[in-house]
Amino acid sequence: MSDVILVLGASGQIGIELTKELRILYGNKNVIASDIRKGDQKMMASGPFEIIDATDKETILAIIKKYNVTQVYLLAAMLSATAEQHPQKAWDLNITSLLNVLDLAKDKYIKQIYWPSSIAVFGPKTPKENTPQNTIMQPSTVYGISKVAGEFWCNYYHEKFGVDVRSLRYPGIISWKSKPGGGTTDYAVDIFFNAMEKGFYQCFLSENTRLPMMYMNDAVKATIQLMQTDKENVKNRTSYNLAAISFTPKEIALEIKKHIKDFKISYQPDFRQQIADTWPESIDDSEARADWNWKHNFDLTSMTRDILKNLKINNLKISL
Ligand code: SER
Repeated sequence: MSDVILVLGASGQIGIELTKELRILYGNKNVIASDIRKGDQKMMASGPFEIIDATDKETILAIIKKYNVTQVYLLAAMLSATAEQHPQKAWDLNITSLLNVLDLAKDKYIKQIYWPSSIAVFGPKTPKENTPQNTIMQPSTVYGISKVAGEFWCNYYHEKFGVDVRSLRYPGIISWKSKPGGGTTDYAVDIFFNAMEKGFYQCFLSENTRLPMMYMNDAVKATIQLMQTDKENVKNRTSYNLAAISFTPKEIALEIKKHIKDFKISYQPDFRQQIADTWPESIDDSEARADWNWKHNFDLTSMTRDILKNLKINNLKISL
């Protein structure tokens, strides 16, 4: 019997693309998309869609029963920048939703859970370069605190109740089909749209702020690969470090300039700079590479080319 998957937060940046890929792999009717509000037209038309508030356990359970769901991908979350403005709400959403699905797995309503963690679990005292899997985790953001706590909840439910929950510490995820909202790494998405539409971008981080990043295609691939690998390969039950590329705003701007010669960037760091300053510059993900054979495909050059090509096909003018 094929798995039936429920995606919570399917209308978000990662949810839109992950749901699409899961529907290709598992069949449209076997992937239930859900979000707190109606989403993307294409997603709603291509398979089942339900309105679900991820903090509402009863509704999640009702939908699990309605479709005989076996796996939940929990992507509903408040990201770092927004969470600083709404600490209590961020904590409620990020932690209540996780405890809901962990409990439903403990009670055997579902068999497997995916939950994303983040580079935000690290803090100012963490080694910045090639940040190891096991190192100091003393985050200074509300979002980071919720992710550290969430990682240990995952590990606890696995150790104590045998819950099969799997997790990745995502770096900044860069996409062109969907836009992020409320994150510190969002500049690396905004920059492409602004370059295409206006030929100019005012960046909210300073030019030399190096952060770990990844193209969406690689993030989707890693997520599904981790979920599909045999249980015994998943040796880490907090969350795996995951890496692809690291760059600064200046470096990505230079890469874009290779395609859009007149592109201009200026820098006006705001409160997000303080968040970025506490995060690693690069990540050591050798455990993910060893345990379940993770490999990324896209570097800065190939990602930039791919994004600009796709934005062009989608009707934005540029000569490549
Ligand atoms: N991309 C996220 C953020 O910026 C980090 O996980 O909040």
